[in-house]
Amino acid sequence: MKLNQLLSAAMAAFALSGAVAGEVEVLHYWTSGGEAKSAAELRKMMQSKGHTWKDFAVAGGGGDNAMTVLKSRVVSGNPPSAAQIKGPAIQEWAAEGVLANLDAVAKAENWDASLPVVVANVMKYKGNYVAAPVNVHRVNWLWASPEVLKKAGVPAMPKTFDEFFAAADKIKAAGLIPVAHGGQNWQDFTTFESVVLGVGGAKFYQDALVKLDQKALNSDTMKKSLETFRKIKSYTDPAAPGRDWNLATAMVMQGKAGFQFMGDWAKGEFIAAGKVPGKDFLCAAAPGTANAFTFNVDSFAMYKLKDAGAQKAQADLAAAIMSPAFQEVFNLNKGSIPVRLGMKMDKFDDCAKLSSKDFVDTARTGGLVPSVAHGMAVSPAAEGAIKDAVSQFWNNDKISVADGMKNIAKAATTQ
Ligand code: GAL
Repeated sequence: MKLNQLLSAAMAAFALSGAVAGEVEVLHYWTSGGEAKSAAELRKMMQSKGHTWKDFAVAGGGGDNAMTVLKSRVVSGNPPSAAQIKGPAIQEWAAEGVLANLDAVAKAENWDASLPVVVANVMKYKGNYVAAPVNVHRVNWLWASPEVLKKAGVPAMPKTFDEFFAAADKIKAAGLIPVAHGGQNWQDFTTFESVVLGVGGAKFYQDALVKLDQKALNSDTMKKSLETFRKIKSYTDPAAPGRDWNLATAMVMQGKAGFQFMGDWAKGEFIAAGKVPGKDFLCAAAPGTANAFTFNVDSFAMYKLKDAGAQKAQADLAAAIMSPAFQEVFNLNKGSIPVRLGMKMDKFDDCAKLSSKDFVDTARTGGLVPSVAHGMAVSPAAEGAIKDAVSQFWNNDKISVADGMKNIAKAATTQ
């Protein structure tokens, strides 16, 4: 037998042994401190299985930049193995016929019994798994600096918007920045959706921002939400426009600002900096939203691949994402909670334990709502149009509340 025949026989035997190592290329936008540390856990797990990790990171919180790059890659017939895609966008990608069927892994790993039904359904297209869920982020959080609150004489975390604005006034009077904000449209929308939830409650949030009901979008409750939203703007600093979300988190961390409205990926920044909840930073439900939970489930959709090694690596990636070991180590770093059911929470901090409890309680009471700002609720087209209308209102004080409401209601009709 000639050398090349010997080599090809050896390769065939190796491939059949199931120990095929392959390359896995993963598109994501986790580039901040906490995010990158979390993504590194997935890389380490895949490398420990002998696979090659090709990191396809596209900076830009919220993921808009990443989605633009992804589309060009898929259109050119060269998709990555997996991409950070979530919510209704999964259905749109699946309808294009470009996503791989993950049912073999899901069956072998018993995903149906390990996931909340509401999450499993988002990961499936026509009954087949096409994406693997990573976590459950809670969006309706308010983060605070205990040092700033103490300096300003703020007695406790505000539970209502009246208490919030009273605290903001005290922080302003103390010469500090009441609200750390980064002026990017997804950050404006993240704040807006917590205001709508706090002012109107979960049912109004569902009617207005999920069902996009025109009556709700043009109601007095929406008017009050926009008035509250604009009032928050007056407590941000002039350097907010364009600021990255994690730099706003750093302002709270450094005692320059009192509050930040942000999902619990912000906690990932505090944790990455070695900060301790309750001591170095405070977490509480955004004002008026303690009985509600705005969920944002990150997930990786997997693309159809040709190479057997790459397919094997992709299947291992899907299995790794849903494994108890990864669910724990990733979410401890990311600030989210595991999406896998039955996970022990004893290594998680009090913010995460509150999140986990509220996730279960609100699923029962109807307070569990999908985040619109983070792609869980409406089509990407409608989300983008509403996001822009909300940001225009936030950035331009000349737009009246009445006009702002009209613009958002009109944007909500985008198909
Ligand atoms: C969200 C994403 C989170 C976090 C955040 C900031 O859309 O689901 O994982 O990364 O953006 O980039």
